[in-house]
Amino acid sequence: MTKPAFMDRAHDGILQLHAYEPGKPISDLQRELGLTSIIKLASNENPLGVAPAAAQALASWDGNLSRYPDGNGLALKQKLAARHAISVNRITLGNGSNDVLELVARIFLGPGRNAVFSQYAFAVYPIATRGTNAEPRIVPALGVDDAMPYGHDLDAFADYIDDNTGVVFVASPNNPTGTWLPPAAIETFLDATPAHVVVVLDEAYLEYQDEDKRVDSRALLERYPNLIVARTFSKIFGMAGLRVGYALSSPQMADLLNRIRQPFNVNELAQHCASAALDDRDFITRSQCENEIEREALVKALQDRGLSCLPTQANFITFDCGQPSTPLFDALLREGVIVRPLASYGMRQHLRVTIGTGDDNRVFLAALDRVLAAR
Ligand SMILES: Cc1ncc(COP(=O)(O)O)c(C=O)c1O
Repeated sequence: MTKPAFMDRAHDGILQLHAYEPGKPISDLQRELGLTSIIKLASNENPLGVAPAAAQALASWDGNLSRYPDGNGLALKQKLAARHAISVNRITLGNGSNDVLELVARIFLGPGRNAVFSQYAFAVYPIATRGTNAEPRIVPALGVDDAMPYGHDLDAFADYIDDNTGVVFVASPNNPTGTWLPPAAIETFLDATPAHVVVVLDEAYLEYQDEDKRVDSRALLERYPNLIVARTFSKIFGMAGLRVGYALSSPQMADLLNRIRQPFNVNELAQHCASAALDDRDFITRSQCENEIEREALVKALQDRGLSCLPTQANFITFDCGQPSTPLFDALLREGVIVRPLASYGMRQHLRVTIGTGDDNRVFLAALDRVLAAR
């Protein structure tokens, strides 16, 4: 088939992109392999499901879907404001935190601008950057012998930042590595970063981090008006399917974000459920505790098998298979276990596995043993 004429009209940034590859859906694998028992440990969702308070809010919702949602998301923003002790005019809601990342890119990037982020950082950063035809500048990650192998080398970021830098994306904990940044390193970095550069601190996995390792991003917002903190309901709140995230920032930044936000970017049901989920402290605590216990057990189990794991403070583990990992990923699929191959990140020997329930993890390990034994 001949190439349609409009294809050459897409800008260079878009032409250099490949569509984001999401974790394989369970239904695809069911269809392709006819398997009945499948576990998905590929997208860092909460294995305990939706926060019960959100599920309850969904079941009892008596709103009207024929109406547009509250475009200002006021009720949810008020709850978030109370939670973070921050004013409502410093909060921007997103259709997932992915939406927030896109908004930031659209405001501060474009031809002639660049965005700086680490090698092995979240896959959406290059997509958001190239989507505006800006230049991605990739800072080499810390070496394998570093205490935080494959982690962000924040000291080196300065060498990549210049007058044309619009945005720096920093993820802590980072996906797909699970690595994190010490609070002092984040502060030193913000001090050294020119005020015209917008720094996005992506905290999608913050709630899984040990409390003593977390940065007080709320306090940082007071000191750095160029800082945006991105958070999500997709991970520990168990609401990935509903798509709610948000940005905390200075009021001026929130004003810019709101200017280009789709007027109704977060649907009514999602807002309603997110408000309810915020109150579900028991579920959050249970999710944190179970993740911590299972994370430790799974890291140990992988290490006992001679597989080295990256340090992680998230709800997933990235480990070195000591061999090309895509064939192992394929073999695990045939066993009914979906994990994440990382070749698209340039990590050809690594797999990322989301920490599941104890049962999920046992099924995964048994499947992994069979797959490794067959090689
Ligand atoms: C580091 C990081 N940031 C942001 C997101 C986006 O999450 P969502 O758009 O579901 O809020 C993800 C999702 O995997 C992530 O891993």
